[in-house]
Amino acid sequence: MSGQRFVRTHRCGELGSRDVGRQVTLAGWVHARRDHGGLIFIDLRDRAGIVQVVVSPQVAAPEAFHVAEMVRSEYVIQVAGEVRRRPPGTENPRLATGEIEVYAQTINILNRAKTPPFEIEEDLEVDEAVRLRYRYLDLRRPDMQRVLEARHRAARAVREFLDREGFWEVETPFLTKSTPEGARDYLVPSRLHPGKFYALPQSPQLFKQILMVAGVERYFQLVRCFRDEDLRADRQPEFTQLDLEMSFVAEDDVMELVERMMVPLCRAATGLEVDTPFPRIPYGEALERYGTDRPDTRFGMELRDVTDIVRDCAFKVFAEAAAAGGLVKGINARGCAHFSRREIEELTARAAVYGAKGLAYLALAGDGIRSPIAKFFAPGELEAIVARLEAEPGDLLLFVADRPDVVAASLGALRVHLGTRLGLAPRDRFRFVWVVDFPLLTYDEEERRHVAVHHPFTAPREEDIPLLDSDPDRVRARAYDLVLNGVEIGGGSIRIHRPELQEKIFEILGIPPAEARDKFGFLLEALAYGAPPHGGIALGFDRLLMLLTGRETIRDVMAFPKTQSGADLLTGAPDAVSARQWRELHIRPAWREAVAGK
Ligand code: AMO
Ligand code: AMP
Repeated sequence: MSGQRFVRTHRCGELGSRDVGRQVTLAGWVHARRDHGGLIFIDLRDRAGIVQVVVSPQVAAPEAFHVAEMVRSEYVIQVAGEVRRRPPGTENPRLATGEIEVYAQTINILNRAKTPPFEIEEDLEVDEAVRLRYRYLDLRRPDMQRVLEARHRAARAVREFLDREGFWEVETPFLTKSTPEGARDYLVPSRLHPGKFYALPQSPQLFKQILMVAGVERYFQLVRCFRDEDLRADRQPEFTQLDLEMSFVAEDDVMELVERMMVPLCRAATGLEVDTPFPRIPYGEALERYGTDRPDTRFGMELRDVTDIVRDCAFKVFAEAAAAGGLVKGINARGCAHFSRREIEELTARAAVYGAKGLAYLALAGDGIRSPIAKFFAPGELEAIVARLEAEPGDLLLFVADRPDVVAASLGALRVHLGTRLGLAPRDRFRFVWVVDFPLLTYDEEERRHVAVHHPFTAPREEDIPLLDSDPDRVRARAYDLVLNGVEIGGGSIRIHRPELQEKIFEILGIPPAEARDKFGFLLEALAYGAPPHGGIALGFDRLLMLLTGRETIRDVMAFPKTQSGADLLTGAPDAVSARQWRELHIRPAWREAVAGK
């Protein structure tokens, strides 16, 4: 080492045959060490990759050989030496640096390391709790490093693109007032205002709209959002949105911008070339054909309605469902006629999760139809069903008869399950689709009132405004969702920019005027000062990266995620706080155990 600078001339993974003969100084982690008696091999790893270091008594200083005998996995060392071509026959084609090796002259131990709880290897099956507890070791693994890099590159591409398009990145507060996005808020008690709380934002929705009133015209932010909801593979309590808002736009302007943005974003993240424009499908059609508003369009197996065919059939379950205003729909699992009774029982159990009371099937085996219900149908009915599902010998037809929502949810889920199981949904095929024409409102049976399908700031279609009073269920929203491979990766809308309409929507949502003023008075007031027409969207940045990098959970694309129960296994958060902190915040614990120490 000289002066105030650390000496490192090259990165391990960058060395190649063009460096043969060169004198180099490297620094990194001991990936592996092999002692061949007179010769010690060290695989040295840094962010750029791995290189083989050879410690031979002929070349290395005597202390260097001694040091090489002492180092263990994950020790941090600095090595000075010469790059040499590997002797013929000893090249390693699996290593980018496999044609060369570095003959060490000196080795410096910069730090020792305890034996890691798992190897720093790619694709290693390690219990996730252990990975999260030792996240710094997990992140050393090359596949995790690639994810971090892909994420960085995607973010950079987005910033460059949006900058070129005239967007400004503006930061909005984390300590704020509750914004309703449908989840529970994380609250932060105020020390200076006893009994009052900040809410962490579920999204910057209201601030970005106010930025439009402020004349910013084009805003974006890569922003953390906080939602206290039940966690799943694609949900975290804090996650990142690529949030944007534009003034003087309509639906197509926002969707077209997002399509153009996806091109450099996907290219930067994974080299994927996406085709634009993305297909659009109306909400109602998505439900009909796929049983869900986030269709996986990588494969067909669409839901087919056979209600008209079975209305008068002898199978009571079907006829009664039809008579009661329900539906009978089926999907065609191609080539699955051989499924065993047990396999079909397993599918039935899956459908039952969504409320299906059974799963009827027709297996078109080579020698006729295998089915407990075929006997109830006239030949003409069977023929019509087979034709409706475009079935051929070898196919398995699965049916649910129930209320339309149960039919959609259960068959939709079966379709996705079978698509994955039959290999119809490869992870490296990407199918974007816009879902449009959402209803503005839906009736919440529990709360006995209408609630917003998207959020209360979404504009209704101009021509549907008269229906707000007469037939609110039929009002369509100016909203759009972006779906990729069956995952909702974004949602947005054109907003209400006139205060009278916003007040009216609050009223329809059953929010009394006083409460509306209390919660959203600042928005209503801002809208009254010349709000331009505006709209935008937010993409779930983690979800998008999860899909692009072929991961199964968004935890794998976040540096420091939380577990399904919202715990951070690395730091131990959430944690108890001291009695003094409780007092300062003017709150009292309901449980003694919640208090740490005095
Ligand atoms: P929305 O609530 O649809 O819209 O959120 C936008 C996108 O954020 C992602 N997302 C999540 N990702 C990980 N974990 C979560 N818990 C989570 N919740 C949501 C999804 C979703 O599509 N303000 C509006 C946007 C707008 O109208 O412009 C909003 O937040 O991919
Ligand atoms: P059962 O008449 O109850 O013996 O049912 C005969 C077949 O119809 C079984 O394969 C059931 O799984 C199926 N079945 C029962 N209820 C429904 C339903 N609501 N929708 C579809 N299939 C059903």
